[in-house]
Amino acid sequence: MKRFVSLSLLALGLIAGVLAGFGIIHAADKPKSIKEVMKLVHNEDGIRDTISESLAKKPADWATVSTKSKEWVDAATDMTKGKPKKGSAESWKKLSTKWLNDAKALHTASEKKDLKAAQTALKSLGTSCKACHTAHKGK
Ligand code: HEC
Repeated sequence: MKRFVSLSLLALGLIAGVLAGFGIIHAADKPKSIKEVMKLVHNEDGIRDTISESLAKKPADWATVSTKSKEWVDAATDMTKGKPKKGSAESWKKLSTKWLNDAKALHTASEKKDLKAAQTALKSLGTSCKACHTAHKGK
C-alpha cells in the first residue's frame, strides 16, 4: 500500500510537471505585441545597444551579435503579425517585413563574421524608425 501511494504521488507529480511545462511553452508561443518588441529591441541595454557595443569591440564579439540578432529576428517576426493602431495593413506588411529582412541580414552577417555587412544592416535597422512611426505609431 505504501508503495502504491508513493507511486501515485510520483504519477501526480509527473502530470503536474507536464501541465506546467505546457503552460510555459504556451506562454512562449504567444507573439509579442509591437510595443513589447519595440521595448525589447530599443530600450537602454536592449538588443540594439548590445549589438552596437559588441560590433564596436576589437575584435567584434560575434557570439553575442549572433545570439542577439537571432532574438531580433524572432521579435521582428512577431511584429509582422501585429496590428498597428494606425495606418494600412499593406503599409504595415511592407515596413515590418523590411525590418525583419534587415534583422535577418544582420544575423547572416554575424554568422559569416562580416563586419561591413553587419554594420550596413544595423544602420538600415536604425534609420527605419521615423518612416514607420509616422505611418503607424498612433496617438
Ligand atoms: C516597422 C515599423 C517600426 C519600425 C521600423 C520602428 N518602430 Fe518603433 N514603434 C512602431 C509602432 C507601431 C509603435 C507603437 C506601438 C504601440 O504603442 O502599440 C512603436 C513604438 C515605439 C516606442 C515606444 C514603446 C512604448 O513603450 O510605448 C519606441 C521607444 C520605439 N518605437 C522606438 C523605435 C526606434 C528607436 C526605432 C528605430 C531604431 C523604431 N522604433 C523602429 C513601429 C516601428
